[in-house]
Amino acid sequence: MINSDFRSHFPFFKNESNWVYLDSAATTLKPQVLIDETIAFYQSAGSVHRSQYDLAQTDAYEMARDLVAKRFNVESRDAVIWTSGTTHSINLVAQGLSDEIQAGDEIIVSIAEHHANFIPWQQLAERKKAKLIVLPVDENYCIDANVLSEALSAKTKIVAFNLVSNVTGVRQPVEQLIPIIRAKSSAKILLDIAQAVNSEQIDIQQLDADFYTFSAHKMYGPTGVGVLMGKLQSLATIRPLFFGGKMLTDITEQNLTLADLPYRLEAGTPNIAGIIGFGKVLAWLDKWNFNSLNKSLYQLAEKFQNQLQQYTNIQILKPSNITPTISFNFSNHHHADIATILAEQKIALRTGMHCAKPYLRYLDKTGTLRISLAHYNTEDDINRFFNALNFALQLLQD
Ligand code: ALA
Repeated sequence: MINSDFRSHFPFFKNESNWVYLDSAATTLKPQVLIDETIAFYQSAGSVHRSQYDLAQTDAYEMARDLVAKRFNVESRDAVIWTSGTTHSINLVAQGLSDEIQAGDEIIVSIAEHHANFIPWQQLAERKKAKLIVLPVDENYCIDANVLSEALSAKTKIVAFNLVSNVTGVRQPVEQLIPIIRAKSSAKILLDIAQAVNSEQIDIQQLDADFYTFSAHKMYGPTGVGVLMGKLQSLATIRPLFFGGKMLTDITEQNLTLADLPYRLEAGTPNIAGIIGFGKVLAWLDKWNFNSLNKSLYQLAEKFQNQLQQYTNIQILKPSNITPTISFNFSNHHHADIATILAEQKIALRTGMHCAKPYLRYLDKTGTLRISLAHYNTEDDINRFFNALNFALQLLQD
């Protein structure tokens, strides 16, 4: 079983063997290779791009950039920018494009966005007296192509939405949506792929957005490392958010000459340990057959969803399609009550509004229970979850 082999690389399962981890959309567990690399880095010395001596790990650091470029088919390694996470990446784009937004311009997002892909655009629109258009979703929780088409015009400057929702796990039909945006406007397109990177092989040139954002910790990497990547030409239009060391080729008392991409957007000492560690994770992931891992993952998700559907009074926030993240509610019990009893039985899942309050309000919910699976989950995890759920429902019934 490929997933059992994969699981054996995560020390969590030895250290916390009485827990069932079903919260990988919040953050994935960390493989031994990341832990080893992190320890090795902090037991050594040096800073990247700033030292002549051999200890400084500039090569390993830049190798990690190459691995991101290769994995996502980025047009150039220079179009991979290190950030601290998805939130930083989206803010970098929103602030960096602010000079291009005039009063009366329009910015389009969907209602199904995480706060990180909603608030930066809302604030930008407010500051520039532009209009924020929030697209609804249809009964399948997807952006409707006709509704999007109607909203687009010459005034549209930016369109931003997610590939996969962190609330519902639903994947947007971006292959259909992006060509519509291209045909009807000259807007820049940002795709938040944070919830898709661990369950889909993404070719960003094929998808044709301008900007893509994700966090390393959603794909077995460390927290505090993120990526902004996309078209070199579009990234070149972003004004830096931070100014400081290593983002320039010259500076006088009067004039600043910015460095080329990617360094102009990477001022300051980066998260070296995190980035080198993420590089090791990507090299390690390359050794696995991602398609086989995904096949088992989707089979497990399907089994999970089918079993969940057998319960009475359940509402699953998903059409028939299967992805590894599944949100649900019981109409006769509060989500927090169930989550509390599950946590007492050592089931780790997420509950609440999932950092997406406008979306939850739109769905008329005060919260949901959310299960999210990754490649290390097994049938035994699912069986333990359902035993715990049955116990919770029984307790609440009495
Ligand atoms: N955005 C992460 C989640 O959905 C934290 O849980």
